Amino acid sequence: MDLDRIAKLAATAEERAGAVSSLDELGELDAELIGRKSEIAAARRELGELPPEDRKAAGRALNEAFQTAKGHLDARRAVLELAAEDALLQEDRVDVTKPGIVPPRGTHHLLTQTMEEVADIFRGMGYQVADGPEIELAWYNFDALNTPPTHPARFESDTMYVESFDGEERSGQDELLLRTHTSPMQARYMEQHEPPVHVVVPGRVFRTDTWDATHSPVFHQIEGLAVDRGITMGDLKGTLAHFNREFFGPDARSRFLPSFFPFTEPSAEVQVWFDGAWLEMLGCGMVDPNVFEAVGYDPKEYTGFAFGMGVERLAMVKHGITDIRHFYENDLRILRQFR
Ligand code: PHE
Repeated sequence: MDLDRIAKLAATAEERAGAVSSLDELGELDAELIGRKSEIAAARRELGELPPEDRKAAGRALNEAFQTAKGHLDARRAVLELAAEDALLQEDRVDVTKPGIVPPRGTHHLLTQTMEEVADIFRGMGYQVADGPEIELAWYNFDALNTPPTHPARFESDTMYVESFDGEERSGQDELLLRTHTSPMQARYMEQHEPPVHVVVPGRVFRTDTWDATHSPVFHQIEGLAVDRGITMGDLKGTLAHFNREFFGPDARSRFLPSFFPFTEPSAEVQVWFDGAWLEMLGCGMVDPNVFEAVGYDPKEYTGFAFGMGVERLAMVKHGITDIRHFYENDLRILRQFR
């Protein structure tokens, strides 16, 4: 064995260990210098073959070489392990000051919000909220509402009729149509409930209007109906004036103008003073006795009022929207303004 060579080899351990940059490489160097297949290990196995008087010195020299190499390897290992741990910590670091990931949040359409807001105001006055079918019988849309077959609103040019889908021949009051207003729910609701009645009905309605800035063939209304003993036009005016103040603000002013609807007598139109002008907001009136007869209420015992307002109209006035088409085009740049 060449003890000199082994000592020199051990002395290179510091420089070589310093040159490796990973624990894997250091492992290989460790195997080469002091592992089972290293020169030092081989020399140790050969110690027994030396003459007894040389053995002790050779053993000590090999030990020294081993310890020298091992010392440098261990020192380097400690450094590399620390660095590896640091790198891991660095990788796993969480920056708690970073802005979070905000999930996109949906919102109700302004028309839905407006219907909810109106319904809430009436809930506050003790009203129920109901809804009804969009495909309606002519009976509820017209006949029960004191609107005879000859009335112009019943012309095909004003109303969208629906083909029978049950194979039955339909004509007159049995015809199916897309309801032209929410008023058929007055008749339906009274048929199913005994007075007193206080109900509002939001919903979609249909007319053969051509699409422009102020017209849409599909739009929304909220119907209102109150029936009890002794209800007067004063109750109607007070209720709607209160609604207007709640919806448009405490300074809202309303006025009532004479009007006509087949199913109310007398009838009125309500205008609201907004931004320097009187704007038509809804139709209303005292329920016509013929309507009570049609649904089986005794007109000598009960009186009531009804009203119907346009949801798009309310939202346009309140939010300064100038084109009804904005509601249906679903341009998020517009809709997002009304979260
Ligand atoms: N239904 C009427 C319309 O669509 C509005 C209305 C409702 C009028 C209730 C009086 C009473 O124009």
